[in-house]
Amino acid sequence: MPPVILAIESSCDETSAAIIRSGKVLNNVVASQQVHRKYGGVVPELASRAHQRNIHDVVNEAMASAGVQVSELDGIAFTKGPGLMGALLVGSSFAKGMSLALGKRLIGVNHMEAHVLAHFIKATPDATVPSFPFLCLTVSGGHTQIVLVKDVLDMKVIGETKDDAVGEAFDKAAKILGLPYPGGPLINQHATDGNAGAFHFPATQVPGLDFSFSGIKTAFLYFIRDQKAINPEFVGERMKDICASLQKHLINMLMQKLELASAMTGIRHVAIAGGVSANTLLRQELKRRGEELGWSTHIPPFEYCTDNAAMVAMAAHFKYEASRFEPLDTAPEPGLALSA
Ligand code: KG4
Ligand code: ZN
Repeated sequence: MPPVILAIESSCDETSAAIIRSGKVLNNVVASQQVHRKYGGVVPELASRAHQRNIHDVVNEAMASAGVQVSELDGIAFTKGPGLMGALLVGSSFAKGMSLALGKRLIGVNHMEAHVLAHFIKATPDATVPSFPFLCLTVSGGHTQIVLVKDVLDMKVIGETKDDAVGEAFDKAAKILGLPYPGGPLINQHATDGNAGAFHFPATQVPGLDFSFSGIKTAFLYFIRDQKAINPEFVGERMKDICASLQKHLINMLMQKLELASAMTGIRHVAIAGGVSANTLLRQELKRRGEELGWSTHIPPFEYCTDNAAMVAMAAHFKYEASRFEPLDTAPEPGLALSA
């Protein structure tokens, strides 16, 4: 019998649940936490309390809207890591409790693997999935990775950030500009009619396929400080140009390494995933450069870019098919690596 699986995502600040039946995602219920907005970043303790408040409702809604009874479930999946310990504990404890009480299989999913596997959710009947092997630039608030994907459950990180993630660079720059968390979507929004050539930031040189975003964060902080010393209204007056220029700089850094990865590996099937893959310029640039370089490119629907349980459900489906289950004494791993 094709499996019916309930999947739960709680690694950071989204509490989410989804149902997958026979490899088809039936829904994707997401409760985003607003409590972090004024703090400029996710506050771990507040995140785990909000997950506790939301998880029952989110799971109930996913079950009800899919019209699935608990007796029909074959497995319960959860995000095992990476993520915030307190946040991961809420989802994993809930999944373990259900698994034990109902006698259902338990499936632990790697959050970064799930971001990549979002590409296998058939959002529309004519949606195409990437061919193997492909490269996936996974860009989120906690990670910036270039992943070589050989098969659904066979992936290897071939380049990653040595310090901050690109999503973090967006969020920290937004905080410097006085914008609330998460700042990435707001920078994207302000950049829409800004002049991307207005300001220039120093290039960060990192060998090979790795990235570094801590330098640009500091350079941006000093740039704003110096400009405000000349004109205290600088940020308000030039917000659009500042956002467009910074966004272009960050997206260029990503695209340069992605092009290098394709040249080094000879792989021309290229995908993006994770929260920052919702960025308009990154989506445009992947398409534009992909056409120039003869790549087949894959961009996830917006719903599956930022954290969601549908991608966890997709990964869980593949793990179920491969009989890769989790023991009941499992524990979340905040630093879980991709190949684990
Ligand atoms: O994948 P995700 O939801 O959570 C993590 O696993 O970290 O990614 C969240 C990150 C945040 O840093 C957020 O600012 C960024 O994705 N983000 C964006 C956009 N939408 C979300 N960054 C730039 N442009 C966007 N449109
Ligand atoms: Zn994520």
